[in-house]
Amino acid sequence: MAGLWNHSLQWVLACFSFCIISISAELQRFEHPIKANGSLSLLVIGDWGRRGHYNQSLVADQMGWIGEKLNIDLVVSTGDNFYENGLTSIHDPSFKKSFAKIYTAKSLQKRWYSGNHDYRGNVEAQLNPILRKIDRRWLCLRSFVLSSGIVDFFFVDTTPFVDKYFLRPGHHTYDWRGVLPRKEYLAKLLKDLDLALTASTANWKIVIGHHPIQSIGHHGDTAELIVRLLPILEVHDIDMYINGHDHCLEHISSTRRHIQFLTSGGGSKAWNGDIDQLNQDGLKFYYDGQGFMSAELTQTEARIVFYDIFGKVLHNLDLSKELYSTM
Ligand SMILES: *[C@@H]1O[C@H](CO)[C@@H](O)[C@H](O)[C@H]1NC(C)=O
Ligand SMILES: *[C@@H]1O[C@H](CO)[C@@H](O)[C@H](O)[C@H]1NC(C)=O
Repeated sequence: MAGLWNHSLQWVLACFSFCIISISAELQRFEHPIKANGSLSLLVIGDWGRRGHYNQSLVADQMGWIGEKLNIDLVVSTGDNFYENGLTSIHDPSFKKSFAKIYTAKSLQKRWYSGNHDYRGNVEAQLNPILRKIDRRWLCLRSFVLSSGIVDFFFVDTTPFVDKYFLRPGHHTYDWRGVLPRKEYLAKLLKDLDLALTASTANWKIVIGHHPIQSIGHHGDTAELIVRLLPILEVHDIDMYINGHDHCLEHISSTRRHIQFLTSGGGSKAWNGDIDQLNQDGLKFYYDGQGFMSAELTQTEARIVFYDIFGKVLHNLDLSKELYSTM
């Protein structure tokens, strides 16, 4: 009943979409405190929920160790949280079997911030706040801002940008509740993101999506994001774009752009040899196996590290920048 009501409400709203767009609220905002010494550390994982199989549990164990070593404050998920088709409902046992009972280490009992990219199946199940009652760590929304003083994270719902999901869904069934009409949804999302980036005074600006903008992996570049999202990120001079979707670990530091492109999509669904093109401008690192990423930030320094399932450091990136000032 609620679904039906939402659906009809969407159509009513669609008729007035022009004025709705201009008066509607901005991206929802969450705050997460930094440490007393002014630093923040976190882990980033993507493409993971397979009930512990396919090395998911091994990745989880290493996250626990590294999380403890870095005394992490939070975890970020780049999406594709529950395979194959998201959660069927808030009662889907996968929530426990692929999340709550897998990431059990003490250091991982922190808030998990996640975008939602599981549009196949029941899109609203993962977004339902009731899940937070089942596991307090869980916070999943389509698009939102996470502010942590020294850094602002902008979570962007990238799935609705991709044309083929609408034009050539194949045998997949997508649940577009909350997204239609698509054109208005995307226009509003980009406008809200632009406003949020404009308002941000954090020294570091990190945008998180599910789909890569640039990648040499299986799926590769996402043309729609290059055309529509990237120009906004460039105007606002963001520092990093972090994604999953390609089931690998990857770092591209384009010579033409100031943005570091980081892929953390090795939570479980990775396999050897899954690589599309060997040469791309600025490719620094590519690993076609399972693993995850950590980030340690202070006001002026950032350290990114990629790990495999044995906790071995595969690659790191150190950035430093002057203190940003709005004066
Ligand atoms: C801040 O404190 C944490 C321990 O709470 C420590 O792991 C980290 O290295 C410190 N960072 C800096 C920049 O001093
Ligand atoms: C688990 O990881 C190891 C080491 O990277 C790899 O050799 C193996 O193929 C992985 N297993 C699966 C099922 O992906």
